[in-house]
Amino acid sequence: MKILFLNGPNLNLLGTREPGIYGQQTLADIEAAVRRRAEGRSIGVDFRQSNHEGDLVTWIQQARGTADAIVLNAAAYTHTSVALRDAISASGVPTIEVHLSNIHAREEFRHRSRIAAVCRGQVAGFGLGSYLLGLEAAVIVIESS
Ligand code: DQA
Repeated sequence: MKILFLNGPNLNLLGTREPGIYGQQTLADIEAAVRRRAEGRSIGVDFRQSNHEGDLVTWIQQARGTADAIVLNAAAYTHTSVALRDAISASGVPTIEVHLSNIHAREEFRHRSRIAAVCRGQVAGFGLGSYLLGLEAAVIVIESS
């Protein structure tokens, strides 16, 4: 099975970006932990980041027929992007929404996710663990389809 991990804006700064909220780990550390968890389980992991909404839209479109599931941390675009929501919907690829922080316990503007309704579910608040749980959720969704 193939799982596409997509990361949105500013997640390239993890490690130095507000470590009290997002933790000390870099995105490379998170990718390594995801790859370790997937090892020996016939799971192909493709892990990408972009600061550009259009890149994320294109990658979600391309996932149709090439990935079995998407694990998406859309970062700030979570709260704003109708384009991402439409791309997820159009691609038909089961998508798991993940966040390092618990968006529901933060500022009010972070409580609403524009993509949640078209995702299979959401994992938020477990730091790097959100990605590992996202991986397991993707496997469950793929295996039960
Ligand atoms: C985030 C939460 C978003 O509100 C924020 O804009 C991010 C990161 C998280 O992983 O906790 O950039 O998606």
